[in-house]
Amino acid sequence: MHEPVLLNETIRILDPKPGEFFIDGTLGGGGHSKAILERVGAAGMLLGTDWDNDAVSRFEKENKSRGKRVLVRNANYRQIPDILKKEKLPHADGLLLDLGFSSDQIESAEKGFSFQYEGPLDMRYAKEGETAAEVVNGLKEEELADIFWKFGDERFSRQIAKRIVEERRKKRILTTTRFAEVVASAFPARFRNGKVNPATKVFQALRIYVNREFENVESILGNLNECVKSGGRVAVISFHSSEDRIVKRRFNELVKAGRAKSLTKKPIAPTREEIKRNPRSRSAKLRAIQLT
Ligand SMILES: C[S@@+](CC[C@H](N)C(=O)[O-])C[C@H]1O[C@@H](n2cnc3c(N)ncnc32)[C@H](O)[C@@H]1O
Repeated sequence: MHEPVLLNETIRILDPKPGEFFIDGTLGGGGHSKAILERVGAAGMLLGTDWDNDAVSRFEKENKSRGKRVLVRNANYRQIPDILKKEKLPHADGLLLDLGFSSDQIESAEKGFSFQYEGPLDMRYAKEGETAAEVVNGLKEEELADIFWKFGDERFSRQIAKRIVEERRKKRILTTTRFAEVVASAFPARFRNGKVNPATKVFQALRIYVNREFENVESILGNLNECVKSGGRVAVISFHSSEDRIVKRRFNELVKAGRAKSLTKKPIAPTREEIKRNPRSRSAKLRAIQLT
């Protein structure tokens, strides 16, 4: 079960009011959406999207009784402007993006996100595009190294890419656990037995690359005026420093251009209690703006 991150802080900042229309671009386990629905009440409405059809079906089933107040679509959040046009919906009073993956997805072995569960090396939120296995077995050594460096800040990126190419020549790398073994074997011995699995950053980098995660964030944040109305609030929770940088830069541009005001002078981080209760929240950062 996914525990929503920075829930109280996000709701306080988005400040959904009775009768308002909100968009949750990343439904996941629906924790934030449920809290938004409670605030917007019977006269309000929610559009929820998730690229993962399992998340969408689950949320639809759980919220059937809410009828037309909840519209759910299995889509990439970058398509929200098109969905609004197609469904003849107005611009929203608020938009939330809680980036990355959910605990439900990590724990699902067949989605291939985690080295802790043996499954196919897949890592796609939606069943479209190249799988992680196709990337790992198909890209050139330098391309793999660049992915691990750019999206994972992995300082052993070159050694890891070299080892992958050596191993895949013998046998294609097709499962999460095999991939984790190959990655770990490229590290100097003293790095292999720490608290954190040595493959952590490489898994993160590959997931970001496979799903074009940074491009998706750039796209939606570049099109906010097509989905959020003047006075509307936009909140983004990110879990990766480069992703947070994208959000920060885009929000700053809007503020400088007089098109938004910042609602978080500094990014909001989880409290120590939240990190203790939910260690997954430890790298979370919440930034928000209000469009003028
Ligand atoms: C951290 S979870 C959201 C958790 C949710 N806020 C909750 O409280 O349960 C992120 C979700 O975003 C989805 N996702 C990732 N990239 C997406 C994209 N480009 N478009 C739509 N959904 C995406 C994932 O499938 C995942 O379910």
